[in-house]
Amino acid sequence: MPTIQYTGRPGVLDLSWGHPHPDALPVGDWAAATEAALREFGWRALAYGYEAGPVELAQWLRERLAVTDGRAPAPGEVFVTAGASHALELVSTQLVAPGDVVLVDAPTYHLALRVLADRRASLVEVPPDPDAFEETVTRLRRAGRRVSFYYLVPTFGNPTGASLPAAARRALPAVADRLGVPVVEDDTYRELAYDDPAPPSLWASCEGARVVRIGSFAKSVAPGLRLGWLTGPPDLVAALVDRGYVDSGGGVNHTVALTMAAFGRSGAFARHVASAVARYRAQRDALVTALHAAGVACPVPAGGWFVWLPGSSALLPAAEAAGVSFVPGRRFFASGGPDDHVRLSFSMLGPAELAEAARRLAPLLTPS
Ligand SMILES: Cc1ncc(COP(=O)(O)O)c(C=O)c1O
Repeated sequence: MPTIQYTGRPGVLDLSWGHPHPDALPVGDWAAATEAALREFGWRALAYGYEAGPVELAQWLRERLAVTDGRAPAPGEVFVTAGASHALELVSTQLVAPGDVVLVDAPTYHLALRVLADRRASLVEVPPDPDAFEETVTRLRRAGRRVSFYYLVPTFGNPTGASLPAAARRALPAVADRLGVPVVEDDTYRELAYDDPAPPSLWASCEGARVVRIGSFAKSVAPGLRLGWLTGPPDLVAALVDRGYVDSGGGVNHTVALTMAAFGRSGAFARHVASAVARYRAQRDALVTALHAAGVACPVPAGGWFVWLPGSSALLPAAEAAGVSFVPGRRFFASGGPDDHVRLSFSMLGPAELAEAARRLAPLLTPS
């Protein structure tokens, strides 16, 4: 019986998985935090939890976001979830009626497209450009369509690694707010900033606009925790708190959430993120340097786990025959295309393996 989602293939340097490096998972420190949480909170750690998530975690998160994002959420603006995927599922359940249009960036996180499709929404691509956004919303409304929200990954994006420029970070939520379309900002990679601090979120850049920002501990700590959170308008958070399943089951993943509060407050989170950032920076540098040395021009992501390169799905069989794999870029488009890029993930392999992967891939990526 499989115990994890990842499956390795012998002989293949697989750059397709956006998963953490196994050595970056904090087994010992998490065990210490589990013990500390049980000692500090006693039976409360194992009881049903507060609907919006433990106050201790929300308080620590407020302090962390004041540093990493420049805006600390007020108590009624935070809701703890079982990861970013769960946050998107919850927000979609709240905001999408069957038949609605959900606007999505192109390219964007491919598995978010599945979460949205589960809500029977029609997905329409639009770039995070305020004018294109306004034109698209106006056109759809003229055609009688309801637009429920706009989903994008504006910081160290999956799959491109790119971040939205500062001006658009302010302008886009302002236009969306004027049009009455909420923005759902997937901020999963904020903590993994390799050169400069991550730019302020859309949520922080445009206070008062209807932006829901989704966060996760999957990349900064460990995906198996199934722990994330969102910051958003108090009425939306109140609606999530008021849902039947939290009334019945209490706050999501309560024991793990309290353990994260202990992990954060002890300083273990900050230490862990610093070492993860150093590790992934070295991995990024190994991949990008080897690609550049082999004549492959590619952008250098300032954070996150991905390099986005010209290429196509047609290269995959030859790449796998050469012992390296990737995800074809067309998977990141709601429309199914274009087929003109590939996504390489540098998260799961060490520097030497990444350099070897680049050496195997380069002859396929460079026109001879
Ligand atoms: C942009 C983005 N959002 C969400 C997720 C999933 O996050 P979680 O594990 O917290 O559900 C991923 C994981 O690859 C991601 O890249």
